[in-house]
Formats: sequence, C-alpha cells, structure tokens
Amino acid sequence: MSSVPTLQEKDRRFLWHPYTQMQDYARRDLLLIDRAKGVLLFDQQGKSYFDTISSWWCIVHGHSHPTITEKIRSQLARLDQVLLAGTSHEGAILLAEQLVRLAPAKLSRVFYSDNGSTACEIAIKMSLQYWRQVGQPDRCQLVGLERGYHGDTIGTMSLGGVPEFHGPFAPLLFPSHRLSSPYCYRCPVGLRQESCNCHCLQPLAELLAEQGARIAALIIEPLIQAAGGMIIYPARYLQKLAALIREYGVHLIFDEVATGFGRTGSLFALEQAGVAPDFLCLSKGLTGGMLPMAATLTSEEIFQGFYDDYGAGKTFFHGHTFSGNPLAAAAALGSLQVFSEERTMAGLPAKISHLQARMRRFADLPWVGDLRQLGMISAMELVKDRETKAAYDFHERVGWPIYLAGLEQGLLLRPLGNVIYLWLPLSVTLAEIDEITERTWQVLSDPRNIAGW
Ligand SMILES: Cc1ncc(COP(=O)(O)O)c(C=O)c1O
Repeated sequence: MSSVPTLQEKDRRFLWHPYTQMQDYARRDLLLIDRAKGVLLFDQQGKSYFDTISSWWCIVHGHSHPTITEKIRSQLARLDQVLLAGTSHEGAILLAEQLVRLAPAKLSRVFYSDNGSTACEIAIKMSLQYWRQVGQPDRCQLVGLERGYHGDTIGTMSLGGVPEFHGPFAPLLFPSHRLSSPYCYRCPVGLRQESCNCHCLQPLAELLAEQGARIAALIIEPLIQAAGGMIIYPARYLQKLAALIREYGVHLIFDEVATGFGRTGSLFALEQAGVAPDFLCLSKGLTGGMLPMAATLTSEEIFQGFYDDYGAGKTFFHGHTFSGNPLAAAAALGSLQVFSEERTMAGLPAKISHLQARMRRFADLPWVGDLRQLGMISAMELVKDRETKAAYDFHERVGWPIYLAGLEQGLLLRPLGNVIYLWLPLSVTLAEIDEITERTWQVLSDPRNIAGW
C-alpha cells in the first residue's frame, strides 16, 4: 500500500520556486512555514526562525499585525475586488490621498499596480509616452545604473545592472545607457570616500552633454542598490545626479520599492537627500508587506500630458487586473494607521543606533571586507582577502553554508552572493535585535561557515 505523500514530497513534485535552484532540494527539505507572528516564522514542527529579511524586504510592522489583519477582514466582508478602469472605490481613493500627502509636494497623482516590477515599468512607459505627447518623440533613451535592480520584467531588466540575474535574457533586452555604480568600497574611479566629490558622475555629465535632449528618464534606487549587493551610497551623490539631469529636463525615477516605508530610517529614502523625483515607485512595504500592491506616483505636469479628448490618442493604455485591489488598499491604509498610532518612525532612531552598535564587531572579522549600514539595514561584504579586497565569484556561493548555519541558529538569512545582510522589520525590539545579532555572530564568526577560511 502506498503511503500518502507529505507536503515536502508534493512540493518537490509540483512546485517551482523563484530564485531557487530546485536541485538544491532534491534531497534536502525546504523550510516549510506554517505560521508567522511579529518577527518570527514558525515551521511545521513549531521551530521558530527570525525573519531577518522581512520576507523579501516587505514586512514592516511584523507579521500578522492585528490592525492590518482586521482592516483586511472587514474589507473582505464589504468589497473583495473591482476593476479600477471606469470604477473606483473608497480604499483606492483614500490611500491615494494619503500617499500624495506623504510624498514630496510635486507628486500629486497615483497609478496603482501590483508589484515592484510593474511600479517601475509603469514609470518608464509613462515617461516615454509623455515625451511623445508633448512634442519630443526623440526623447526615448533611458539610463540605469550598473548593479541597479528594478524587477524581472523585460523593461525593468533592460534598465537593470545585475548580470547574474539578467544575463540569460540579454538578447531580449532593449539598449539603454548604464552608469557605473556608486560602489564606494570598490570605487569606480579609484577614490577614497574622504576625497570623494562624486567624480563617478562625470560620465553622466558627458552623456548628458552629448545626448541630453534625447534622454527620457533615469531610474535609480535612492541611497542603496539593494539586490545589486546592498551598495549604500551618500545622499550627496543623489543630489548631484538630480541637479545634473534637471539641467537637461530628463525625468528622474526613484525606485523606492525596497527603501520605501521606513527601512532606511526615513519614511522614504529621498527625504535624506531632499530630492523630489518625477516618478516615485512603491510596493513591498506599501501594505505593511501583507498583500501585493504597488503605486507609481507622478506629477501634475506629467498627468496633464495625457489629459485630452479620447480621440487625441493620449490615453495611458496600461493596467492590471488587480490594480488598486480593495483588500490590498485596506491593508495599506491599515499600515499607515499603524505608522501613526505606534509612532513607528519616532521609535526608529533608538533601534537603528542599537543595531549599528551591535553590528560593529563584525567589521573585525577577517573575512568581512566592508560593513555597510543604513537605517534598519546592515550588510557585510565578504572577501577572500581584506588587503586586496579579492571577491568571491558569484558561483562560489559563499552564502550557502551561511544560510544553512543560519537555519540551525533559528535565523532566516538569505545572502546575496557574497553579501550577508539583515533587513529588519521596523517593529523589531531592542531585545530581538540583541538576539538576532548574537545568533548572526554565532554563524559568521565561525570559520567553518566561511568558504576558504
Ligand atoms: C528596488 C526594487 N525594485 C523593484 C523590485 C521588484 O519588485 P517585485 O519583486 O515586487 O516585482 C525589487 C524587488 O526586490 C526591488 O528591490
């Protein structure tokens, strides 16, 4: 008599997981999560794991926050889903109003979609169509950054700069300009931070002088290139970049899909640079991480470029089935309510300085080349040699034994190649920070977990 297959067996049989080499799990069980509360995930046997990466950078107030859960529940009893073309609903309207109030004054219009890639794809398409409709159809070139990441759709990959992820699709990607990454630890122009005056922006100045009138937009992740390796760069880089492209009327797209909603210590990372973009892309933390939703905010000027008689052919023909979904909107309103009721942002400075203090000792480990910290994010770049900064090759997979050792310690770490990081929910307590950093120390200070040491 054949036995009933377990969930693990059914997973192996039926599922294909994202960003996962499935062969890794041919004989190893994957982590089967049964429930979550606060910063903890629990597996089927009841073992707990700290969600140190906020479940792919989206959980803000902890898992299953009662205020957000209740908002979703009551919304479900009222209105589950309705299209947003030609119809509207209270949640989408009130959320748009709140987002406009929170964003820089210039951004007055909200366009919904359902994930971070679409939030960015929409900004790119809007920019291009806008220039066509205001009599500048030649402005159709785009600029991205090396190590930039804006999603996995063809458009966002075309502007991304992470070859490990996007290499196989190269034949499909459209040509675009690429600036070097403001990767201070491996400065592209060989300077040290003390003597840096953002010289790495010189190629942008040259590109603009040559092609400025043909460039529609530049897209960038403010203050940290996250998926590209947690590359943290100074606010003055963003200020200089913005000033440069403004001279040529180029649109500035800020991808705050990952940084939005408090993670960097301010509600939006852009606040630390005091720069207002033409497009602001939000997702992940928008709903507190509970449901999929995205928003692309833009200016009245850009909105007006599309506003005309139907026959003028200026409609923005883009939309998704679940754009502005009422349940997701209720979750987002719930998350904003928690921000205000729990004074989340006011509580952050103490948590950030505690986290940064607890992380400092990691910089002394001989395999930690660079310790980078920004808000609730702490990242360590592992190297083979601190003197030469010799890097691990992506395929050496230095993060894998660390990931496995993390699980043993009750930590869900998810290294990005040679970068090990914590991306903590804003709700984490000081005691939890102590526990997480201590367990991370147990993993990272043990040479047996570090390839080649
Ligand atoms: C900065 C940034 N932009 C866009 C995306 C894509 O978001 P999604 O995975 O929801 O499509 C991500 C995802 O990690 C991101 O970090």
